[in-house]
Amino acid sequence: MSNDSSLRIVADLRDWITAAPAGAKLPSTRELVARHGASPVTVQKAMRILSAQGLIESRPGVGTFVRAVRTARPLDYGWQTAALGSPHNRIPSASPTMRTAPPGAIALHAGYPDPELLPERLVRTALTRAARSGVAVSRSPVAGLPDLQAWFAAEIGSAVPVGVTPPTANDVIVLPGSQSGLSSTFRALVTPGQPLLMESPTYWGAILAAAQAGVRVIPVPSGPSGPEPDELARAFEETGARAFYAQPNYANPTGAQWGRERALRILDVVRANGAFLIEDDWAHDFGITTDPVPLAALDDAGHVVYIRSLTKSVSPAIRIAAVIARGPARERILADRGAASMYVSGILQAAALDIVTHPGWGTHLRGLRQQLRARRDLLIDSMSEHAPTAHLTATPPGGLNLWYRLPDSTDLNVFMRECEDRNVFVASGTEWFPAEPAGPFIRLNYSGVNPGAFPDAARVIGEVLHRAA
Ligand SMILES: Cc1ncc(COP(=O)(O)O)c(C=O)c1O
Repeated sequence: MSNDSSLRIVADLRDWITAAPAGAKLPSTRELVARHGASPVTVQKAMRILSAQGLIESRPGVGTFVRAVRTARPLDYGWQTAALGSPHNRIPSASPTMRTAPPGAIALHAGYPDPELLPERLVRTALTRAARSGVAVSRSPVAGLPDLQAWFAAEIGSAVPVGVTPPTANDVIVLPGSQSGLSSTFRALVTPGQPLLMESPTYWGAILAAAQAGVRVIPVPSGPSGPEPDELARAFEETGARAFYAQPNYANPTGAQWGRERALRILDVVRANGAFLIEDDWAHDFGITTDPVPLAALDDAGHVVYIRSLTKSVSPAIRIAAVIARGPARERILADRGAASMYVSGILQAAALDIVTHPGWGTHLRGLRQQLRARRDLLIDSMSEHAPTAHLTATPPGGLNLWYRLPDSTDLNVFMRECEDRNVFVASGTEWFPAEPAGPFIRLNYSGVNPGAFPDAARVIGEVLHRAA
């Protein structure tokens, strides 16, 4: 509460400072306490924020004053152009899906669940417990806390059929989120300039990580049931690739889930080509009408390198994930992780472990399933009613997103701008394509917004499409 109040005082005083001359004396703490009905602690906190922003300075015993603003002059960084030279590989900037929408906007563009879909009480208790324990003041092993490694291994182990050897805790490397795991895995398994096969469309962050690793992305078309095994085999053969990045369960953006038969055929293709399948299981906890079956559970020969994230199901603030790899591939990825970040915060690891081993976690996931289903269906119904020309490619059996194809004549840039002018933010599908987009697509996330706003958002999308037709 005092946090909100101090931010309110900061906003108010910023306006006052903007209108005041340099050197003007600010009202005293006592006056501000009376004016804002806040405590002295809250007022002092606001003053500290303004001071840290360089807007005011306090002179002990005299008072607090508006700082003189030095004249801004255009700065010349031209020398850096010569020092930096041309970039080795151009990395696209982070996706517009990471933009913060203005207050009051209906933000269907972002990928992060609303706090009401998170196990908030478990998160707060776990963080408090972790802060009181030894991990708060110690460093963790490079590969992660052993108990958390064991938990990630056991999760896969529970899906392993008879005759397949499950992974062990030692095969697990804990990550500070799976995004950096993708970068490390691509760097570790694919030499710069060499091909990496990817489904198309696929996660924009994987396309970014591939650019960062300097590898050559080869798109493989993928539909509601995943890529065609024959098409994949052809891509391996034509390019000589030794790695394939894929999301077999609830792919971002399409929500596609591979059937068992297709998964087995794809695994056969990967094996036949002596290649790695880099399996991104980002939505493992978001099954709606099916359960996810990681391909990693079917492989004990080290072909599948498995990445699982807890960021979106536990909390975006507890950014914990893991990569499970066997053999020399594991050593390469571990070496890259050590060089990139040495180790992952023990507090976050301990809190994540506390949450996922709590009896309340299972209860939470069961409730989440129902909530995701209701949200998914409401957004689908709202779109069918108000934006009938947008075509839902498939009803996703899990995940957080709907993938719509818009009429071919749609100019996506104009469409997005007009939706945003009317306070509805959607994600342009273009960034999910490693090459040219196969048409005008948008991705709508049903987890981040109050579902009560879905009909209004769909109405705006429908009207903008109707006007463009
Ligand atoms: C398919 C996919 N993989 C990986 C990530 C990155 O997840 P993390 O937050 O664990 O870095 C995301 C995030 O949106 C994702 O959609």
